[in-house]
Order: sequence, then C-alpha cells, then structure tokens
Amino acid sequence: MNLRDRFEQAFMPNYGVPPIALARGEGTRVWDVDGNEYLDFIGGIATTSLGHAHPALVEAVSKQVATIAHTSNLFLHEPEVLLAEKLLDLLNAPGRVFFANSGTEANEAAYKLALKYGRRDGRTYFVAAENGFHGRTIGALSLTGKRSIRDQFGPFPVEVQFVPYGDAAALKEAVTGDCIAVFLEPTQGEAGVVPPPDGYFAAAREICDSTGALLVADEIQSAIGRSGHWFAHQADGVIPDILTLAKGLGGGLPIGACIGFGDAGRLFDKGDHGSTFGGNPVSCAAALAVLDNLDLDHVKTIGARLRTGLEAVGHPLLKGVRGRGLWLAAVLAEPVSGKVQQAAADAGFLVNALQPDAVRIAPPLVVTAEQVDAFVAAFPGILDEAAK
Ligand SMILES: Cc1ncc(COP(=O)(O)O)c(C=O)c1O
Repeated sequence: MNLRDRFEQAFMPNYGVPPIALARGEGTRVWDVDGNEYLDFIGGIATTSLGHAHPALVEAVSKQVATIAHTSNLFLHEPEVLLAEKLLDLLNAPGRVFFANSGTEANEAAYKLALKYGRRDGRTYFVAAENGFHGRTIGALSLTGKRSIRDQFGPFPVEVQFVPYGDAAALKEAVTGDCIAVFLEPTQGEAGVVPPPDGYFAAAREICDSTGALLVADEIQSAIGRSGHWFAHQADGVIPDILTLAKGLGGGLPIGACIGFGDAGRLFDKGDHGSTFGGNPVSCAAALAVLDNLDLDHVKTIGARLRTGLEAVGHPLLKGVRGRGLWLAAVLAEPVSGKVQQAAADAGFLVNALQPDAVRIAPPLVVTAEQVDAFVAAFPGILDEAAK
C-alpha cells in the first residue's frame, strides 16, 4: 500500500489526503517520496523561513537536542531567555513574553490575557474581523471570522462581534467601552493575503486607545521577515498591546509566542497560564538560528522581483497580485486555484490554493533570484494549463 492509502486509513479525515508526500528538502528545493523534485513556493505555509535543512538550523537544533531537549516550565534554560530578549530587542518596546507551541496556542494566551484585563472593569465582548483566521482551538476559533469552520463548534464562552476587515468606520462603531480587545491580522493571511487600506492599523490603535480596548496583532503568519519587516505592524508605525507569533519563528520547529507590551505584559499572575512544551530548548534554539540568519534586505529585494515578475505576466486568468515581501497571492479571474496548484506541481512548483480565486506564494525567505525567475517564467504555462 502506498503512503497516501496508509495515511487515509490511519488518519482522521480532517485534512483529506494531501496530494504529495515529501521526503526531504534543501533550501527551496524539495523531493517527494518518488524522487520528483519541486521548488517549494509555499514553505510549509509561510513557515520554513530559512528553507529546508539550513546548516545553521541543523546545527543549532542538533546541538541543542544533544545537550538538553526538554526542561518543562519547572526549570528555566538559556535559549528561552535569549530568545525572549532578542524578540523584545527587535520589537524595540518594553514587553514580556510567553512561549507556546503553535499559533492557536499563542492566541489562546492572548485571549486569556485580554479576558483578565477585561474582567477587571466588566468589559464583555471581543471584536475581530470577518474572514480573519486565528486558529482552531476554542478561544482562537471563536475569534475566527470564517463561519464555515467556526459556527458548528459554538456557542463560545465570550461574545465576538465581527466587522468587515479594512473598514475603520465599522471598527469604530463596534468598539465601545465594553469591548475587551480587538484581534486583527496586519494583513489577512488565510483570507487570501489581503492587506487593509493604508492607515487601518493606525486607526485601530486610535479606536482602542479612545475606548480602553486592547489591540491584539495576530502576526502568526505575517511576522519574522515574511512581509519584508521583522513584524508587519512596524510598517504601520503602531505598537499593539499584545502580539502573537508562530509559523516562521521556529523555521519549521513548533513554537508560538504571545508578547504583552507595557501593562499588558504583566497581567498574568503566577499560575494563570502555562505549557509543558512551550518554549522548549530545541524550538528556542531553532528560533534563535532563524533570527540570526534572516536577511530582510534579501526578502525585500527578492519579494519585489517576484511581485514585479508576476505582475508582468499578462495572462487573462491572472487578475492581479496582492501582498508584501515574500508573501503574495496571485488573484485569479476565475475560481480555479485548485487547478493552478495542480498545474504548478506538474511543472515542478509547490504553491497553495488558498481561496478559490487566490493562490498563495510564500517561498522560504532564502529563495534565490534564479528560483524566482524560474517560477515567473513557468507561470504563464501553469495558468494556460489551469485554464484548459
Ligand atoms: C494569522 C494566523 N493566526 C493563527 C493561526 C493558527 O496557527 P497554528 O496553525 O500554528 O495553530 C494561523 C495559521 O494559519 C494564522 O495564519
């Protein structure tokens, strides 16, 4: 029996059966179990920041696992302290860090932190954006603005009001003195790499300041260089009260972070929250290797090259290109992203059918000019194939 059949028999059906079984990778290149080679333009869903098997990541993780792999939160260790200090340094604002293992857990911590804040003065509800995605655990899911994945698991413990993303007037109307916190992505990732209009995040900051609601920036997909900045909100000149990270931070190893700025960083008391694995030494060593080896200038230059190249493609199926840095969506004139994903794989490129009319392109942040040019050159043929 092949791997896909074995997967189908052994796994819950929540993912369906993924079409390709990957065996190994090197940089932006990956090979499937049959030996076919691909250029990886999805990077483990915007996660494999340094590419596959980056020597610095391999060395850091190997050294750490051979030294001490796990301590639990009963003991502190140097990699977690170094990583927290480094993140705060990059953020250039006073804050406190909590490490989790994933994006949804980072948001769960943010949710609890915000609840603690809100309950002090009787605040009653959250605000989040329609089509936003914050994760699959119950707190994060309740904030996720996609009804098809949320509604069947409700009712949720706290009311969440949803507003159209990017509409500052709607946000202003929804956020009153009873609002606990506003959860927003600086650019919506899962919705189709959708940036808001200029000034939206700054407006959200003002609205939160005037009502006392906390501003939570979910940067689980957008941070750690993906947008061409360490953190996407830095481009908006705004400091949130709470920031959540995951994905690219560990470069492929599981880690999430919830960072509270100013007073928000001191809301948890001893015993309020915890995780056995959160911030484990191996994941922290991986994250330190990521932060030490990322080249933001490369992301900006190569991201611009990719975007300009795709924009110049001039194909009837390609309506436009959205996004920033190495985090783009090719927007299609027809809802055929599944066919584009398939045609791309047949041509040797991995991309992701994110929405029916949007294909996510998020290669490792070390993708080379030659690899970007190869993808751009192949894209018209991929679109031709998908249009058939
Ligand atoms: C913005 C955002 N928040 C939260 C999550 C959930 O992260 P995880 O899958 O690590 O739980 C994701 C995952 O795609 C995301 O894009």
